Amino acid sequence: MKFTLDVNSTCFEALSAINDTDGKGLIVLDSKKPIGFINDGDIRRLILNGGKLKDNVSKAMRKEFLKMKIVPSYSESVSLVDKGIKLVPIISDTNELIEIIDVISILKIPIHDPRLVGNELKYLINCIETNWISSQGSYVDQFEKLFSNLHNSAFSTTTSSGTSSLELAFKVIKIKKEGYVLVPDLTFGATLNAVINAGLIPIICPIREDDFSIDLSKVSNEILEKTAAVCVVHLYGSGSNIADILKLKEKYNFYIVEDCAEALGSKDNGIRLGSFGDIATYSFFGNKLITTGEGGMLITRDKKFFDYVNLIKNHGMSPQKKYWHEVVGTNARMTNIQAAIGLGQLENLESVVNRKRDIHQIYYKRLSKLEPLLKMWHEFDNFYSSYWLNIISIQNKSKIKIIISEAKKRHIDLRRCFYPMHNLPAFKQFSDLNFDYSNSLKIYEHLICLPSGLNLISDQINAVCDLIEDFI
Ligand SMILES: Cc1ncc(COP(=O)(O)O)c(C=O)c1O
Repeated sequence: MKFTLDVNSTCFEALSAINDTDGKGLIVLDSKKPIGFINDGDIRRLILNGGKLKDNVSKAMRKEFLKMKIVPSYSESVSLVDKGIKLVPIISDTNELIEIIDVISILKIPIHDPRLVGNELKYLINCIETNWISSQGSYVDQFEKLFSNLHNSAFSTTTSSGTSSLELAFKVIKIKKEGYVLVPDLTFGATLNAVINAGLIPIICPIREDDFSIDLSKVSNEILEKTAAVCVVHLYGSGSNIADILKLKEKYNFYIVEDCAEALGSKDNGIRLGSFGDIATYSFFGNKLITTGEGGMLITRDKKFFDYVNLIKNHGMSPQKKYWHEVVGTNARMTNIQAAIGLGQLENLESVVNRKRDIHQIYYKRLSKLEPLLKMWHEFDNFYSSYWLNIISIQNKSKIKIIISEAKKRHIDLRRCFYPMHNLPAFKQFSDLNFDYSNSLKIYEHLICLPSGLNLISDQINAVCDLIEDFI
């Protein structure tokens, strides 16, 4: 077991083993019983007192050290670290070692972490036992079916990532209509990469301040008339002024692709995001609301789009005639193994969303008291957010650097938001000098993303709030 050393070892062997623990030290075991703790300082003291490196480890180890019967809580861990205790052996009633807790690991508050507590393992084992591990297998079908049921019976097809879903969407649109794809200035770069890789030209558009969504009221008729599609990105689980975009669609006849990578579970007027556009795409990367490690989904109500996406995603090969390539395609399939995890995750979507909303409420209750020094994004009337990520806007932007550097010291993973696309070397050329990008620049300068993982406990959320409160 990591962090342990047999009592028959020498101090030299202990030193080399301590080296592999980042200096945290070792618990010395006699059979399965922890009998001492040793770190490099203990060996240094032995040598200064005339001891030798070849001496037995018991000559240098401390016999008084902390052992616990249950894993320390977050607040207990904070005070342990304050006292300089980095390792805690957890023991049974008979003083046998069960595990060693690296206390810092309890203190780490990640921005996201997956939670795999449903049928994921059972379904995975079934994949292995039945030998169905490639992209053919019943979990792929079941995952797609359940996703369709949740999204008002749209056609759903799994993909290898959120990015490949987007790319497939734009490739299909390109066949129907040439022209620009309007994308918001604030998004993850995958949105633009997908448009460009599909052979279309993106135009980076200004965004609205309240929900970070694309602001088509700032786009000229001239551009709208040459637009093949608008990519609506529902950033951070927020909505996107969809009613106005749908009105413009009537007038200009463009396609709508909803990038729902960050918005699974959010609803606008009771309707799930992803149900408004011609195509919607989802990501199941490890940090997303539900995950398959890497993976994605594309949904559409248009059967022709659906068939064409499936054709391209399977090498462009005819489903009826093996090895008959009808069009140029790619391999963007999800494996049965990923779908098995995805199905287990999706079955728990409601409880995942409830958990995310609970996390938001704890933050909101505390941090909304700090207004106007900060403002926390909170759903509007008639909108139901799955709060993939909790975000705050700090009034005094000069505090952000301090807050983030203090967060590092407290093992809290705070992040800034994405860079506005119009400033990035890869995408600059797709910006428009006539556009006013001040909203995205302002959001970028003031926004901080808070840890929002499903395994967060209240103690940890409060620790994040304490930090913000201390340095705002
Ligand atoms: C808004 C947005 N679009 C697209 C993607 C790409 O998804 P993936 O990482 O699954 O390719 C992501 C994130 O990962 C995203 O946040």
